Amino acid sequence: MSQQPINDRAKSNVGNRPLGTVRYDHSGRVVLVTGGCNGIGRAICDGFASSGATVVCADVDIKISKELPAGIHFRKTDVAIESECKSVVDETVAEFGGLDVLVNNAAIQPASSYVRIEDVNRDDYDRMVAINLTGFAFMAKYGLKAMRQQRSGVVVNIASGQAHRTSRGVPVYGPIKAANVLQAMQWGVEYARDGIRVVSVSPGAINTPLVQAILEQQGGEKELANRHPLGRLGKPEEIAHAVLWLTSSAASFITATDLAVDGGLGGFGSFADPYPKP
Ligand SMILES: NC(=O)c1ccc[n+]([C@@H]2O[C@H](COP(=O)([O-])OP(=O)(O)OC[C@H]3O[C@@H](n4cnc5c(N)ncnc54)[C@H](O)[C@@H]3O)[C@@H](O)[C@H]2O)c1
Repeated sequence: MSQQPINDRAKSNVGNRPLGTVRYDHSGRVVLVTGGCNGIGRAICDGFASSGATVVCADVDIKISKELPAGIHFRKTDVAIESECKSVVDETVAEFGGLDVLVNNAAIQPASSYVRIEDVNRDDYDRMVAINLTGFAFMAKYGLKAMRQQRSGVVVNIASGQAHRTSRGVPVYGPIKAANVLQAMQWGVEYARDGIRVVSVSPGAINTPLVQAILEQQGGEKELANRHPLGRLGKPEEIAHAVLWLTSSAASFITATDLAVDGGLGGFGSFADPYPKP
């Protein structure tokens, strides 16, 4: 074959090469997602539901709950309240026969919390600890107990790039996200011989209501997107895909560790030349 036709063929494929896809099968599995009404949690619920799982969405957002598709079962749950964490796990197991996956996702980051530690107000502090830290712990307390009885299960903590590096104005949210990574690592080690895996996922900036609410503090959407080497915000589905994979048997040797899904953010040094402004 001559060189010319190959070059022409390659040229016609520029920007048009096959990218590859993965299809997930979570048929028959029972999945509990906290904060599943919006943003990343909603994409995770949708991803599991469309790959065959029974999904329970534990959230406080009654308004949105009415818009959830039929395959996603809403259970009003405030993860800051231990008895509600227990109830949603107990009811899920009783109603659907087990608990295969728990995704600790519900968290808040109020706009008023973007201050120095000296200006943090007690209400923001207590709510972030109660939901973002204690909520993860008590959902795991009851979820892991149920999984230990069935000798299988996977827990995913949704952490953050801010668990690993920090910035100005996140004196409570950032350290709690670091704790979410260590929670997953500790639980992963503790329950490894019980057939249970525990991992965390650390997203970069993902286009969700949480991020839309604090764009101003971040210099606007274009500015925030440009800090990521891939030059854009992530999509909630891109976090869901990582969770669908990590909780499947394809990831059976992965536990007690963290996966960054961050558009290159974590690899980009603060000493590096910033990308040109778009
Ligand atoms: N969006 C991002 O850029 C980003 C980046 C890194 C990490 N994260 C993490 O991803 C997770 C989801 O973030 P998001 O951007 O989708 O947030 P979001 O604000 O869009 O959604 C959070 C969901 O949690 C629910 N929730 C709030 N308080 C609750 C409570 N007490 N009990 C039960 N549910 C409650 C809300 O009703 C909502 O449905 C969080 O853990 C967040 O810290 C997000």
